[in-house]
Amino acid sequence: MALYGLIGFPLSHSLSYKINNAVLKRYGDHYVIFETKPEELFSTVMGLKVLSRGFNVTIPHKKSIILYLDHLSEDAERIGAVNAVKVEQRTATGYNTDYLSILNLMNGRNVQTAMIFGAGGGARATAYALFRLGCNRFFIYNRTKENALSLKSKIEGWGAKAEVTEDPKSADVFVNATPMGMYANDEALIEFYLKGNYRTVIDLAYDLKGTSLSKLAKDYISGIEILIEQAALSIEIWKGIKVDRKEMRSALHENKG
Ligand SMILES: NC(=O)c1ccc[n+]([C@@H]2O[C@H](COP(=O)([O-])OP(=O)(O)OC[C@H]3O[C@@H](n4cnc5c(N)ncnc54)[C@H](OP(=O)(O)O)[C@@H]3O)[C@@H](O)[C@H]2O)c1
Repeated sequence: MALYGLIGFPLSHSLSYKINNAVLKRYGDHYVIFETKPEELFSTVMGLKVLSRGFNVTIPHKKSIILYLDHLSEDAERIGAVNAVKVEQRTATGYNTDYLSILNLMNGRNVQTAMIFGAGGGARATAYALFRLGCNRFFIYNRTKENALSLKSKIEGWGAKAEVTEDPKSADVFVNATPMGMYANDEALIEFYLKGNYRTVIDLAYDLKGTSLSKLAKDYISGIEILIEQAALSIEIWKGIKVDRKEMRSALHENKG
């Protein structure tokens, strides 16, 4: 029996408990939600290095957790964000399965340009997946300009062009990398989205009933599928097993009503 979990704040909306336990309970393992405020991050990570074999990381800790880890995978280091941590003999290694999830779900689509709404850890991972698909021009909008500038310099470090913008720019792909759409107040996101033209939408926000963007986009990569894929990839890193994505999907639907 082993302990796994999720750290982030707030986590009341999280679906990770259901999808992870759908797989892990079969092995006698447990996946537990640890709501962790920024000021509790250090002590929670130190505790999980002793008690757990691994954990996922979400908003708002994907960038700040790097300070408390012992090692990083090459991709997590290039992205500058971690969403999965493997613990072996009290040593914590950070991985980024968000980017690999998006890369897998994009399934080789041709991408040259992207408009990214948001600039946190999820935005970094998505930008890196798009960069790996050949995207060489990024437009970034974010509520806090300083964070948009930090994403811009990250992308430029990979060798692609990036610019921070206040206005929407049409592009091959539109990325929502904020929680907007998971809550009712998503007017600013929708207003921004409707002013541009995009072939594909990648929506990190998720809602079992569908987000507003899911109803507007023709070619849509859903936050639910990204969540399932990154969770499956995380368990594969932790346990070295092949995970059935269908089993995770069914667990969500069983709990829907
Ligand atoms: N489906 C998935 O598997 C998946 C994977 C990754 C992320 N996500 C989701 O994507 C969202 C971002 O996650 P993250 O890990 O990137 O978090 P993060 O590193 O903390 O970044 C949060 C981003 O959202 C912006 N933001 C937060 N609240 C906002 C609001 N009320 N209005 C406008 N912008 C807001 C932040 O802007 P500031 O810089 O101005 O604070 C920042 O750009 C979360 O909702 C997370 O659950 C989902």
